Amino acid sequence: MCGIIGISSNKSVSATIINSLKKLEYRGYDSAGLATVHNGMINEIKSEGRVDSLEKNFDLKNLEGNIGIGHVRWATHGVPNSINAHPHSSHNVSVVHNGIIENSTSLKKFLVNKGHTFKSQTDTEVIVHLITENLKITDLEEAITNTLKQLQGSFALGIIFKDIPNLIVGARRGSPLAVGYGPNENYLGSDSYALKSMTNKVTYLDDGEFCIIKKDQVLFFNEQGIKVNKKIFELSSEESSYDKGHYKHFMAKEIEEQPNTIKSGIKEYVDNFNKDINIFNFPWKIEEIKSIILIGCGTAYHSCLMAKYWFEELTNIDVGIDIASEFRYRKNRFKKDTLYIFVSQSGETADTYAALDICNKNNMKTCSVVNVIESSIARDSNFVLPIHCGPEIGVASTKAFLGQILVLYIFILKLSSLRNEINKNQYHKKINDLKTLPELIEKTLLHDNEIQAISSTFNEAKGSMFLGRGFSYPIALEGALKLKELSYVHAEGYPAGEMKHGPLALIEKGMPVVVLAPKDNYYKKTISNMQEVIARGAKVLLITNKSEDEVISENIWETIEVENTNHDLLPFLLTIPLQKLAYYSALKKGYDIDKPRNLAKSVTVE
Ligand code: G6P
Repeated sequence: MCGIIGISSNKSVSATIINSLKKLEYRGYDSAGLATVHNGMINEIKSEGRVDSLEKNFDLKNLEGNIGIGHVRWATHGVPNSINAHPHSSHNVSVVHNGIIENSTSLKKFLVNKGHTFKSQTDTEVIVHLITENLKITDLEEAITNTLKQLQGSFALGIIFKDIPNLIVGARRGSPLAVGYGPNENYLGSDSYALKSMTNKVTYLDDGEFCIIKKDQVLFFNEQGIKVNKKIFELSSEESSYDKGHYKHFMAKEIEEQPNTIKSGIKEYVDNFNKDINIFNFPWKIEEIKSIILIGCGTAYHSCLMAKYWFEELTNIDVGIDIASEFRYRKNRFKKDTLYIFVSQSGETADTYAALDICNKNNMKTCSVVNVIESSIARDSNFVLPIHCGPEIGVASTKAFLGQILVLYIFILKLSSLRNEINKNQYHKKINDLKTLPELIEKTLLHDNEIQAISSTFNEAKGSMFLGRGFSYPIALEGALKLKELSYVHAEGYPAGEMKHGPLALIEKGMPVVVLAPKDNYYKKTISNMQEVIARGAKVLLITNKSEDEVISENIWETIEVENTNHDLLPFLLTIPLQKLAYYSALKKGYDIDKPRNLAKSVTVE
């Protein structure tokens, strides 16, 4: 899962490629490289680590050439080092690749028998030698068509040639790829986000297609190598902020931006005048939808789980959820009256996209909840519910989570009203409550010093648990995910009532346990579970909401009280201290908060 950029221009391209690669680091950051064609030679530079280290280790002024490709890597085959970094080159061909070649072992055997030697441990290198081999016997277009037919698996490719020095080839199967158009230059990029700083005119390759990009012309071909015409899209000119401002990390900024995330979501969907929710252009009649399945990965999956609880509370519709990487390989029973909702911040996650693709191929109703509206998932869904929270750069998702659950909650409320499952007064009351949410989040964000103080206990422990019931259970999972992603400490989210069936054995003296127990219908039950872990020596951080009810404090290590609001909305508030807990734990350890080890923002391999 990697980022690709290619530029064919009438001027030197290496500096622009480096800048674009920095924007692509959300796709991978364990190594980076670029290659240009100049004076009848392929010049290649590669380095372990970030794009910064490429700049440090090489003098870019020496890397001339008007044609070039660049890559940021997230290792799949072979450890992250400079040899396995892309581009991979033969004497004539240089390739950058995002995806996995599943038949690389047999292809490698075939190529070794033909006399090719391999330098890296990657699957990508077989593509280089396969094209080199095919070019010996035929012209460029046929050589590419034949090579793509020989490859199994998924790929987005950028390819340059020593002997054909005026063009870049791009090819796509599975992994997304876009072409951009500029003055006297044209571009290739993993997605439109990578191209946005250079152009607002793009074409998306479809599966199986390839393209030939020259500085003044782009040609597209289908799987059979036959020329095809493609549509040019204009990207939105939405102003986005990609800098940290006065914050130390993007994550800190994104946590603090959450009142605005909620404000923009409300502005987008809530009609203040009529006290109603607007979901414009919804393509189906409400009676056509008898059940809903929500699908996502990582944090987005937690949003799906959160939505399930709200769906069950506010509607009678059947609802199921699934992790995209499981859904895509299961035998699914598709029903015409099911709406499939795909939740994804980036809109590029390979597993989520594959699940969407399966549903589309089975003519299902598909809807996506995304942040990036130009993304593959948004483009290929029948209907899109954007979350409008602006770019999220920190790898660990924060504001996008709140944005996702907000849009899902709003959608559920609307559905409940259309299905007459909520009375008018309740509906209006819930809309009014929603409008107070930004202010309540602002107040919750003030619990800063106390969380900073608590965070070291989590760093020093062998592991920790995050417990919740009902609406708080998805938030417990999200809190544990945040802590492990950022501070590399084992953390497990669990339904509080399930502890006695196994995980209670993990509790020992001094183990920090976060208990999410807002004063909702589950409160008493959760408090009993909390007593069970305290009795076994756990150090409990209780997160609850302010209320008139008696505050239980006996034997509790620390308590954080978030603001009070209607029960549906408490999950938004409970999330905030957990995000901060993870942030401060990682900060104390000096870890790379915005780019945790081994992870990437957008996971474009399965
Ligand atoms: C990666 C990110 C997570 C994110 C998940 C799903 O693992 O590190 O933060 O939740 O992908 O990403 P998506 O873009 O589909 O929401």
